[in-house]
Amino acid sequence: MYASLKSIGSYVPEKIMTNKDFEKIVDTSDEWIVQRTGIKNRRIAAVEQTTSDMGALAADKAIQRAGIDKNDIDLVICATLSPDHLCMPSTACLISDKIGIRDVMAFDLSAACSGFVYMLSLAKAFIESGAKKNILLVGAEKISSLVDYSDRGTCILFGDGAGAAIISATDDKNRAILDVHASADGKYSDLLITPGCGSKYPCSTEMMNEGLQYIKMAGNEVFKVAVRTLTKDVVDILKTNDIEPEDIDLFIPHQANLRIIEAVRNKLKFPKEKTVFTVEKYGNTSAASIPMAINDAYEDGRLKSGDLMLLDTFGGGFTWASALVRFGGN
Ligand code: COA
Repeated sequence: MYASLKSIGSYVPEKIMTNKDFEKIVDTSDEWIVQRTGIKNRRIAAVEQTTSDMGALAADKAIQRAGIDKNDIDLVICATLSPDHLCMPSTACLISDKIGIRDVMAFDLSAACSGFVYMLSLAKAFIESGAKKNILLVGAEKISSLVDYSDRGTCILFGDGAGAAIISATDDKNRAILDVHASADGKYSDLLITPGCGSKYPCSTEMMNEGLQYIKMAGNEVFKVAVRTLTKDVVDILKTNDIEPEDIDLFIPHQANLRIIEAVRNKLKFPKEKTVFTVEKYGNTSAASIPMAINDAYEDGRLKSGDLMLLDTFGGGFTWASALVRFGGN
């Protein structure tokens, strides 16, 4: 039995925040942001809209495209760094409720921007072991709730949104997730961190006054490790599976920064036409980034049944992951 990525869906909030909007709140410029990051716009969730609201809308679309009965879903996992609630209930439980699935195993996964590919690894193992048959994976983020809009080094990078996929059992190897590699190294944890609101710095007025509830990042160092790790991971997974770059139909990297994507793509000599770029319009949507990019390729008609996708991602922790996935949808 193999695990197949059978369908994809996404949701983006209506509100668009442009680089010009940032010029009004921090000392920056459209030119600087485009040159250093490639980002032009990002979507921002409405005040009352939660991560689980967006995740449920993306999930509805993926379920409908998979053509399965939602009651046949036997596991729901949500990857997010901006859960509706810090400790409980999990965002996966809330999404299950919103899409109307009852009595199902549901939990969240914490691997920052690598969350979606980490979930693929779990889904593959659950299905290949025979434990589950139809798994709903959701990467959803309301990162605007964690961003310090006075810190020009971070606020310009992030956006909100959600992506979802159905992973189902199949006996067709040509529609299967071939391999997933997921890893982490906690020695870099301080370079990209939301220090506050956990057990180390519990919520307090002092903690909030210091702004520890917001994302803190050493951008330049993160950049260097990201390029190194993303490149190495791709080289390793291709080699392990004896696959040449020419065999890949679509390279779908984490959409954090156009310069990071281009550095990795150039090192690996992947053609631009075979690479998916969404960073310009959505910014970095963390765990939602990869499924949103897969969804874009699907809706544009670039992703077809049986196509071999190479996914490559990197995030806080540091975590990183790559996957070789043959698209099992229609
Ligand atoms: N507008 C204008 N200037 C800015 C700015 C902004 N939005 N943000 C930072 N700067 C300034 C800095 O303050 C610094 O000024 P100084 O030299 O007077 O101190 C200068 O630009 C250079 O800063 P630096 O951090 O070296 O810039 P950079 O070229 O590395 O670009 C990032 C900054 C954040 C765009 C870049 O480092 C990056 O994208 N890193 C990776 C981040 C990432 O992807 N994180 C998520 C990983 S999943």
